[in-house]
Amino acid sequence: MRQQKIFFIFILLIAVTICFVKCIQQSSGSDPRGPLYAGADACLQCHKNIADSYMHTSHNKTSAPVFFDSIRTALINTKTMVNYPNGHTVKLEEERRNILQSQFEGDKKILSEKMEMVFGSGEKARTFGYWKDEQLFQLPLTYLTNLHQWTNSPGFPIDHPYYTRPIISRCFECHSSYVYHYNENTRPLEITEKFKPNTIVYGIDCERCHGPAKKHIDFHRENPAEKKATYIADIKSLSRTQQSDLCGTCHSGNPVSFKSIFAFMPGDSLKNYYMYYPGSFINPDVHGMQMQLLQQSACYKQSTLTCLTCHNPHKAENKTQQTITASCISCHNTSLHNTQMIQEKKNCITCHMPLRTSRSLDFNNSTENKNIPYKLRTHRIAIYPENEWE
Ligand code: HEC
Ligand code: HEC
Ligand code: HEC
Ligand code: HEC
Ligand code: HEC
Ligand code: HEC
Ligand code: HEC
Repeated sequence: MRQQKIFFIFILLIAVTICFVKCIQQSSGSDPRGPLYAGADACLQCHKNIADSYMHTSHNKTSAPVFFDSIRTALINTKTMVNYPNGHTVKLEEERRNILQSQFEGDKKILSEKMEMVFGSGEKARTFGYWKDEQLFQLPLTYLTNLHQWTNSPGFPIDHPYYTRPIISRCFECHSSYVYHYNENTRPLEITEKFKPNTIVYGIDCERCHGPAKKHIDFHRENPAEKKATYIADIKSLSRTQQSDLCGTCHSGNPVSFKSIFAFMPGDSLKNYYMYYPGSFINPDVHGMQMQLLQQSACYKQSTLTCLTCHNPHKAENKTQQTITASCISCHNTSLHNTQMIQEKKNCITCHMPLRTSRSLDFNNSTENKNIPYKLRTHRIAIYPENEWE
């Protein structure tokens, strides 16, 4: 009897301890990345200007849950149907405040999945995913902003609608700030990657670039008179390679990665994460490989230029010809050539950073089956032959 009582008290004590620990964990920040992280909202208090302006950037908007109203007005005003050579059609449908991508054979609906998560700010394109049993699958239709057109998703089979391409953690590594993922042996010899959707930190947030900042915040809250930044990396004082590697985590293509870049902190080296394919420095694609392209430019080799010379990471970019010219002229002064180009109101990048079609992304709208070019600016700043100007 007595022993039973002691045992009961013991169990009760354990239960109370677990509750207590859980409570403490929750109150010390609920960021899925752990207690060293504070979450983007926490920066507002002291960096309001940066936070307000950052909100509008493509980085911030590069992944999100699909909200009915924003997607509906933004995307439903186009032809929302793609035909496939096997006679099937995929249409966008609206149903109880959801938007679905539905596959039809004639009038018969064979499959229908909800658009639940979006990748891409829509600056150029948006692609969508649906959840099934902690797996995320890419939907067949992708939206191309410039063309105002829905098209078969890139790299998908062109003869029939396809619903079973998994979206993998690698997409999240470049397009979000965090997701918890794990591998499960679903069948013998088959490993499936699964996610905990409630751990996603959507968009690229402050701490994705700056590293965990809880300690920084605690210090400055306790020492409001201290104006010198503490417990946070000063990116400006990092070496040029370190600065380049920070942007290069997501802007140097898709090399073999042997460690999740979610762990990358300012000051880290890309060597600890990536092994590049031998070809990736010879003829880099314009999609996602800005780092390698820039490094091939005389501007980069013969000056101390970095990405930050031309890009402000906290501002939504709306580069006008004037701001671009000004950044070129800050180094290239007023040679006869430059003065003439400015007088003729010509944009330097039309000839020296021309738009190029990506080789790694192929878009086609299936039945018409034509290649839709996906164009980006080359960052190999150079003198190009006239037939390559825009
Ligand atoms: C309680 C106030 C406070 C909060 C909250 C806060 N900071 Fe700061 N932070 C400061 C102060 C003070 C400085 C130094 C002055 C300055 O640069 O504005 C600073 C500077 C910085 C710097 C510049 C470092 C350098 O040396 O160049 C970065 C980066 C930074 N904070 C990031 C963050 C991030 C990210 C968050 C949110 C996760 C955050 N801060 C939240 C007070 C705060
Ligand atoms: C894409 C990466 C990236 C993201 C995301 C980012 N920053 Fe920065 N931040 C930088 C870089 C790079 C610098 C150094 C800029 C320079 O040298 O001009 C910097 C500098 C700073 C500084 C110090 C210089 C200044 O401009 O006052 C503060 C403070 C800061 N960031 C806060 C934030 C906050 C707050 C957020 C989120 C709202 C944020 N950053 C999001 C890359 C980023
Ligand atoms: C965590 C990954 C990641 C990091 C780190 C990162 N970027 Fe990006 N960047 C992206 C993605 C993803 C996009 C595409 C956003 C979109 O439109 O959906 C992007 C887009 C951009 C754009 C185009 C913006 C526009 O409005 O079209 C510029 C410029 C850029 N990044 C510069 C930088 C610079 C400079 C740095 C380093 C300070 C940096 N990025 C660091 C992932 C990253
Ligand atoms: C190594 C980093 C990286 C990986 C991995 C990656 N992306 Fe991207 N993605 C980028 C960058 C950088 C851009 C924008 C600049 C560019 O295209 O060069 C971009 C652009 C996009 C865009 C267009 C955004 C816009 O509006 O401009 C979409 C959509 C997209 N990616 C989806 C995906 C999906 C889905 C995956 C996984 C299959 C994926 N990305 C994997 C870095 C990455
Ligand atoms: C940080 C300084 C810097 C900036 C900013 C800069 N450049 Fe350069 N650029 C250089 C240097 C240094 C060279 C090599 C010496 C030279 O040819 O003048 C160079 C070379 C060039 C060349 C000759 C390339 C070759 O292969 O012969 C062109 C063209 C050029 N830059 C165009 C531009 C344009 C266009 C911009 C703006 C988008 C720009 N640069 C921005 C520093 C810069
Ligand atoms: C219509 C196309 C075109 C435009 C626009 C243009 N350039 Fe050039 N640029 C050329 C060509 C072609 C050459 C090589 C022949 C030459 O030297 O005139 C060149 C050469 C250069 C060089 C290397 C030779 C030198 O003069 O130092 C630089 C640097 C340069 N351009 C910068 C710029 C800048 C900065 C702008 C914008 C103000 C600009 N260019 C606009 C076509 C153009
Ligand atoms: C010499 C100036 C310069 C430098 C340095 C530079 N960029 Fe750019 N970048 C530009 C210009 C100009 C554009 C085109 C802007 C536009 O058309 O609105 C651009 C566009 C982009 C885009 C959007 C892609 C597109 O084609 O629209 C991305 C992503 C980007 N830059 C990333 C980077 C990264 C990452 C670095 C460093 C590795 C970098 N840039 C260095 C000038 C520069």
